[in-house]
Amino acid sequence: MTDPIYSPCADRYQSGMKYRRAGRSGILLPEISLGLWHNFGDVDTLSGSRRKLHHAFDRGITHFDLANNYGPSDGSAEETFGRIMKSSFAPYRDELFISTKAGHDMWPGPYGTWGSRKSLMASLDQSLRRMNLEYVDVFYSHRYDPDTPLEETMQALVDIVRQGKALYAGISKYPYEAAQEAYRYLRGHDVPCLLYQGRYNLFCQDPAREHILEQAREQGAGFIAFSPLAQGLLTSKYLHGIPDGSRMARGGFLKPAALTPEVLARIRRLNDIALRRGQTLAEMALAWLLKDGLVTSVIVGASSVEQLDDNLKALDNTSFSEEELNDINGALG
Ligand SMILES: NC(=O)c1ccc[n+]([C@@H]2O[C@H](COP(=O)([O-])OP(=O)(O)OC[C@H]3O[C@@H](n4cnc5c(N)ncnc54)[C@H](OP(=O)(O)O)[C@@H]3O)[C@@H](O)[C@H]2O)c1
Repeated sequence: MTDPIYSPCADRYQSGMKYRRAGRSGILLPEISLGLWHNFGDVDTLSGSRRKLHHAFDRGITHFDLANNYGPSDGSAEETFGRIMKSSFAPYRDELFISTKAGHDMWPGPYGTWGSRKSLMASLDQSLRRMNLEYVDVFYSHRYDPDTPLEETMQALVDIVRQGKALYAGISKYPYEAAQEAYRYLRGHDVPCLLYQGRYNLFCQDPAREHILEQAREQGAGFIAFSPLAQGLLTSKYLHGIPDGSRMARGGFLKPAALTPEVLARIRRLNDIALRRGQTLAEMALAWLLKDGLVTSVIVGASSVEQLDDNLKALDNTSFSEEELNDINGALG
């Protein structure tokens, strides 16, 4: 049933969102995309999830990033998205760019994880059912599987695209050498890799250090950054302790042990630089990722519409002076 209440903002493409090309493809992605790893599961309210998704689309966010295991519980973020797809987004399917992934633990037994053809094919069928979709726009191998021949994983991606269940293929968190092979295989089978998805933020600059950014560019793929706020560390929220209800307080992937005195000192120094720029720390952290053309889009998480709005303000100023960049490097110390 279509939700009679939802009608997207008429000026959603004039609200300040900019779009960048993913590598050498025809696809433009919003500079800020929304990820559903947390905050959209069955532990969250459907009304809150709906509010954030509607608001994101109203602000020009056309790309939503999912995976089979997002929740908690596993699969529930896709179910939430599927309910909203059916009730309000269905008429706008062609305006949306939706991704999902398989490769992390999803169902019991040997076929519910890693990168076999069996696992990828079954997982995508499950994801499509949960999301009420006929196809996803991009399907990722969520992590490199050192025990499955790379050709098997890549051929599964190729066949998934040929079957029309995904329009494009992507890889996530692949080490340099495996990524090189993946790019070669996919291109050789006329399904060039659209996106490399990697963790990239002020605290984790591995994709730059390990030449993953440069490699993606050379290979004609876009690079899309996940956890751009280091799960919330790169915001002002932990400056004065661990707030109730925060990701760190809820337990899970972001542990209180991550908030060492050294990390807190870095956050304080970065926060001061952000304030001098007239931005919040969250805005500056996102702007920093978008300062040059190496990143196609940053996938933010958000537990509220207010956070989403704060994050979108990053787009107002994504340029940095030499002095500011030096200050940031100094603050990271
Ligand atoms: N490929 C992969 O393996 C992989 C891995 C991880 C993530 N991802 C993708 O990347 C997406 C984003 O990851 P992430 O959730 O770790 O991203 P993130 O943007 O680094 O962290 C999101 C969290 O930061 C806090 N936050 C966000 N904006 C804020 C603001 N303006 N002010 C204060 N706090 C703010 C919120 O924490 P509170 O909940 O505490 O409010 C929010 O839940 C995921 O949803 C997923 O799509 C992919």
